[in-house]
Formats: sequence, C-alpha cells, structure tokens
Amino acid sequence: MSQRTLVLLKPDAVGRGLVGEIIGRIERKAGWRITALELRTLDRATLETHYAEHVGRPFYEPLIEFMSSGPSVALVVAGERVIEGVRALAGPTDPIAAGPGSIRGDYGTIVRENLIHASDSEESAERELKIFFPELG
Ligand code: RTP
Ligand code: MG
Repeated sequence: MSQRTLVLLKPDAVGRGLVGEIIGRIERKAGWRITALELRTLDRATLETHYAEHVGRPFYEPLIEFMSSGPSVALVVAGERVIEGVRALAGPTDPIAAGPGSIRGDYGTIVRENLIHASDSEESAERELKIFFPELG
C-alpha cells in the first residue's frame, strides 16, 4: 500500500549536522521516494496547528519553543507502508528507551530533542501534509 508521510527533521538534527545521515536512512529503504523537501524555521502558528493535540500538556510550551529555535527540514516521503515505516526507523519518543539502530536510539538522549517527527497514521499524514505543503493537494 503506497502512502505519503510528513517528516520533520527537528532543529537539533539540523543544528547537529545530522540531516544527511537521517535522510540517507530514509532514502535507502527500497522504493521510498522524497517528493518534497524544504529547510524552514517553523513559526509559532504552524507549530500550534501541528501540535494541537498536545495543548495543555506540561511539555507543550517547551516543545513549541524548541521547535521554533532554529531551522527544521520538512519533507514528504512516499512509498510502501511509509507511515508505519518511518515511525519504525525513528524509534519510540524517548531516545534512551529507543533501540540501537533507530534514529532516536542512535543519536538522542533527551525526550524533547528527539531529532525527528513522522506522521503516526493516515489521518495524521493527511492533516500534516496540508499544514506543511498545502500546494501539494
Ligand atoms: P512526534 O509527534 O514529534 O513524531 O513524536 P511522538 O509521536 O513520538 O511523540 P508525541 O507524544 O506526539 O510528542 C510530540 C513531541 O513532544 C516532545 N515531548 N516531550 N515529556 C516530554 O518532555 C515530552 N514528551 C513529548 C517530543 O519532541 C515528542 O516527539
Ligand atoms: Mg506525535
């Protein structure tokens, strides 16, 4: 089943020079393709829309601050079961709990600064693609 997913390489990934490393892992999966990509400092309004499900949580404000602290790379990846697949490459939210071999497990230590966002369902992917790449339809 071919799908599209919205991926963000968070400001820690860009700042630490891990863009090539992370995108390389995604690109090397057979048949997956990057269909849009942009370096962009995310504004508060965009982040509030994107993270609406987390409003009121204790980590919400620090998350918005962190996510707007420097440029991110936003990209669309298309291919076979790519929604589930990029989440699997990323690993669990907490990088210490994430297994070695996963992006978060290999490079992260702090829950907030966990390098990558990836849509978690077809519904989320639809919603998030419209936020970051409205022109793609
Ligand atoms: P994401 O949405 O970024 O792909 O990550 P996720 O599904 O694995 O995690 P989620 O629960 O949706 O949380 C969104 C992001 O908020 C930060 N976070 N900080 N306790 C904390 O300090 C905390 N919990 C979550 C992380 O950056 C997480 O990816
Ligand atoms: Mg999430």
